[in-house]
Order: sequence, then structure tokens, then C-alpha cells
Amino acid sequence: MLSYQHGFHAGNQADVHKHTLLLGILSLIAKKARPITYIESHAGRGLYDLAGEQAQKTGEWRAGVGELYEQRGLATPLARYRDVVARWNRGEAILQYPGSPCVAGGALRKRDRLVLFEQHKAEFEALNTAMTNHYRHAEAIRGDGYDGMLDVFSEHDPRHRLIAMIDPSYELKEDFERAPAFAQRLVSLVPDALVMVWYPVLTTGETLAAQTGSFHSQILFQQHREGHRMIGSGMVIFGDTTENRRPLKVLDRALQAHFTA
Ligand SMILES: C[S@@+](CC[C@H](N)C(=O)[O-])C[C@H]1O[C@@H](n2cnc3c(N)ncnc32)[C@H](O)[C@@H]1O
Repeated sequence: MLSYQHGFHAGNQADVHKHTLLLGILSLIAKKARPITYIESHAGRGLYDLAGEQAQKTGEWRAGVGELYEQRGLATPLARYRDVVARWNRGEAILQYPGSPCVAGGALRKRDRLVLFEQHKAEFEALNTAMTNHYRHAEAIRGDGYDGMLDVFSEHDPRHRLIAMIDPSYELKEDFERAPAFAQRLVSLVPDALVMVWYPVLTTGETLAAQTGSFHSQILFQQHREGHRMIGSGMVIFGDTTENRRPLKVLDRALQAHFTA
């Protein structure tokens, strides 16, 4: 039984990196008329309580969204991400943190599909409630995200552009090999799909087995929590990103500058 719960880490520096990229990528694809099916294999609970016990215990969000939230003059991609977080909060304090399903839900249009897999019972129930309350058209499904994502790819409607995110907790070391191999398999099934794979940069050196996607963004944190093995965050996109090469470069440059400032 896996024990990872994202509530301890929500809003940390890795989430700022991952969610700014997610928002930027979905916003680019949503400029096109074609409807999108967005799928997540490891969705988490959708919405996180930063005043709650888990977030307060580690305080990781303070060095991530907490610091960013107080900054003015942010580069456009980060300012847009800040605006998304601000929409979930009133005033200066950040009490609620939107996870990837809520970031995606806000970037997508009514005609787009949002399919979210989560295996953990309590996390799934929270995700289902968050989606019912905020994005009624989203489908939250309890079950294995790898199997579920494969089913969606196998049965997809070619009128839709498939965009997928694989964001495991890497509690199982096999995910370092499984996630990129699975992403490669998905784009061989649907060549115009884009599959994002997030991974942690660890002091212990394990890393994603294949980083051969068409886009790669990796940042290293300036500071990290005492005793914490994660010292950076990476995202690889599998699939053809040629049409968005320039804006993706701009996005990555803004993130590099933010995390080295
Ligand atoms: C890193 S968290 C997801 C965070 C979320 N994507 C975000 O950015 O807001 C990983 C999640 O995957 C779930 N999980 C682990 N194994 C899974 C599997 N095989 N299928 C679906 N969900 C799984 C965990 O319960 C956990 O909630």
C-alpha cells in the first residue's frame, strides 16, 4: 500500500515549476479551435488546504508558491500562474492551493474533456468533490492511472487533441523507467498527442530513464528542506512540440530565471 499524499508537498517549488508549465502548455494548445481531451494518470486531490495539518507540517509551500505570491514584476508565465492561484484565494493569504486538475480545469474550455485518474481512496473522494463543485464536466475516476490512460488513448476521438500528464509520486523506483516508456508507447499510439512526464531531481541520483522527449525543462532549487532528497524538478514532453517551440523556450527561460534569482 502506497502512502504518499501530495498535501505535504502541495505548492512547493516543484509544483510551481510543474503547474506553470502545465498552464503555459494548455493555454498554447487551447488557442487552437480543436477540442482537447486532457488526461491525468496521477491526479491527486485537486485542491489543497495550505492552512491544514499536512501543509503546515512541512511548510514546503512557503519556498514555492508562498515566495512567488509576494513577488511583483513576475515574468508573464509566472504572473499568469500567480493569477490562477489568486483566483482560488481572497486577499493576501494563500489558503487554498489548486493542484494540477484545477490548473487544467481553469485553462480548458467548455468543449474540452478532462479525465482524471486517482487510486488512493481518500484522495479520490476529495478530487471528486473538488471537480463536482468546480468543474462539472470533468470525469474523476478511481483506479490505476496507467491502465486508465491507456484505455483513453486506445479509444480516443481523433477530432480531439490528446494532452496527458503523468505525475507519479516515485515512491516506486520503477516509475523512473515506467513513466517515460509508457509516454513513448502513448505517442506511438496517437502521434499528435503530447504527453508530459514530471520527475524529481534527487540527491540519490535516480532520474527518468528516457529524457528523449521533444521538450525538457529542469530546474534546481536554490534552497531545499533539511534532509529532503528532492533538489530539483523536471518535466519532459513526449510528442511533437515543433509548432510551439518558441513559446515553450520562453516558458522555460522564465522558469530558469525565476529559480536562479
Ligand atoms: C504527485 S501526486 C499528484 C499531484 C497532482 N498531479 C498535482 O500536481 O496536483 C501523485 C498521486 O498519484 C496517486 N497514485 C499513486 N499511484 C497511482 C496509480 N497507479 N494510479 C493512479 N493514481 C496513483 C497518489 O495517491 C497521489 O495522489
